[in-house]
Amino acid sequence: MNICLIYHSDTGNTKSFAEAIQNALEQKGHQVTNIQLQSLAPIKKASVREHQDISFRSLPKADDYDAILFGGPVWAFGPSPAIIAAIRQMTLKGKKCACFATMGFPYHWMGGNGAIRYMERELGKKDALVLPGRICSRATRDITALRKLRSLELISSL
Ligand SMILES: Cc1cc2nc3c(=O)[nH]c(=O)nc-3n(C[C@H](O)[C@H](O)[C@H](O)COP(=O)(O)O)c2cc1C
Repeated sequence: MNICLIYHSDTGNTKSFAEAIQNALEQKGHQVTNIQLQSLAPIKKASVREHQDISFRSLPKADDYDAILFGGPVWAFGPSPAIIAAIRQMTLKGKKCACFATMGFPYHWMGGNGAIRYMERELGKKDALVLPGRICSRATRDITALRKLRSLELISSL
């Protein structure tokens, strides 16, 4: 499959998770385009519930891909406002999509679950075909092993 990974990463943790997902996909023979979101203006580090207008240099065209994976950090117990803005600005009807998130706290209920649920709800509003998402906390002894495990789990439903 031709798969697009699109993500927001402020300090690099989600970028590293995206790269692990890319590796896992390529090892299964998929073609991967890896896109880190670039906003036109700095993004305020705030809850998605606080309104901000976010525009991007460019966004991929969903038609070019069989599946799209959306990722971002957990911010204030919710998703990255940037990845939500990207989802809202894309046409995703009938497209296979899944979400991934990274977080600082150790337990998924400390923002990770809520972030994934929020992203999936937005994808649902776009009539995307939503597949199960995955969370990777940085509060772990072996982050490389965890990224690999979560990547394999994420791509297993594609
Ligand atoms: C403004 C802000 C809010 C955050 N809120 C949470 C949170 O609610 N729960 C959590 O586990 N981590 C939280 N974090 C930590 C980030 O989710 C975590 O460090 C993430 O991996 C950063 O990803 P990045 O390096 O791709 O930007 C927050 C970080 C920032 C900057």
